[in-house]
Amino acid sequence: MLEIKIERTKNPAQKPAPGAPLGFGKIFTDHMFLMNYTEGKGWHDARIVPYEPISLYPSAMVFHYGQEMFEGLKAYKGADGKAYLFRPDMNAKRANASNDRLCMPELPVEDFVQAVKAVVSVDQDWIPSDPGTSLYIRPFMIATDEFLGVAPSKTYLFMVILSPSGAYYESGLAPVGIWIEDEFVRAVRGGIGFAKTGGNYAASLIAQVKAHDEGFSQVLWLDGVERKYIEEVGAMNIFFKIDGKVVTPALSGSILPGITRDSVITLCRDFGYEVEERKISVDELVAAQKEGRLEECFGTGTAAVISPVGKLRYGDEVMTIGGGEIGPLSQKLYDTVTGIQTGRLDDPYGNWRVCVDA
Ligand code: PLP
Ligand code: COI
Repeated sequence: MLEIKIERTKNPAQKPAPGAPLGFGKIFTDHMFLMNYTEGKGWHDARIVPYEPISLYPSAMVFHYGQEMFEGLKAYKGADGKAYLFRPDMNAKRANASNDRLCMPELPVEDFVQAVKAVVSVDQDWIPSDPGTSLYIRPFMIATDEFLGVAPSKTYLFMVILSPSGAYYESGLAPVGIWIEDEFVRAVRGGIGFAKTGGNYAASLIAQVKAHDEGFSQVLWLDGVERKYIEEVGAMNIFFKIDGKVVTPALSGSILPGITRDSVITLCRDFGYEVEERKISVDELVAAQKEGRLEECFGTGTAAVISPVGKLRYGDEVMTIGGGEIGPLSQKLYDTVTGIQTGRLDDPYGNWRVCVDA
């Protein structure tokens, strides 16, 4: 159990009015959580303080070699007025998988969850309640040693900041267009693709800019070796419904193991679908589309929830999926996942929805 000191702000900021457009990740709440790590001492000085700039030396290692981990989850205001999280232990476990790969210290799962709950509880009046909105939670850890040698840092800072947010895509639940990227790659096996760390996103920007310029929302990455097998989207895992079966790329080491992905696989199986986690080549996908067997395509992610894909571009080919409309499975998954998250539906698994003040 962490002992968390709380210093409340004397100048609370104006909260966005109900109905005001929030965008994604643009507004920040009044408080943040911080905790330091020092080799030989462990984690110490857990605290919640007013949201403000932090001070670091220009030599802090995170600026030079990118030793950092981040996570993303959301808090929702339930119909009972209480604040809820969705499977926060999964984020804590994934954070440790990233920490391990990046030679950063482990953060006990209970401490991660306690830190998130504590800061959300302090700022729970910031949780927006308009449909489709939530409080996006960004835990992250950075290397803080003043040192320019390439080596793991001996000191770290773990923080949690909060951002009331609307839909990740400006289009909301409307189907997005995705660009299948065949020039650049995001990750290779043995690399850091499975970790949630800034470098993966830095490497993705060039293709994302290209896709945006061509009128597409995000990039669908192919495997880094053969550039043949589907991996994931910029900020989502990807699912297809082909011949009545739900198919998603298997976790290969170069794909982020999404928590929404895991939840959707469980839900689809419980809806009675056969779910295959396997390799899917882009050629198989194009063939399924040509033969009318590709019924639906959607991305899954915390920020995006379930995002129907209406258009996929590969080379000179632009494939329209499901007439560019929201497919019935995508809609059902969106309604079920958001229903469990917000308490509109019972949590059939008992531990997916977690009360912040419990
Ligand atoms: N893949 C990438 C690259 C992501 O950034 C995300 C978002 O977190 C996901 C997949 C989906 O993961 P999750 O469902 O845990 O948010
Ligand atoms: C999330 O869905 O939580 C993400 O981290 C996606 C993105 C904003 C990087």
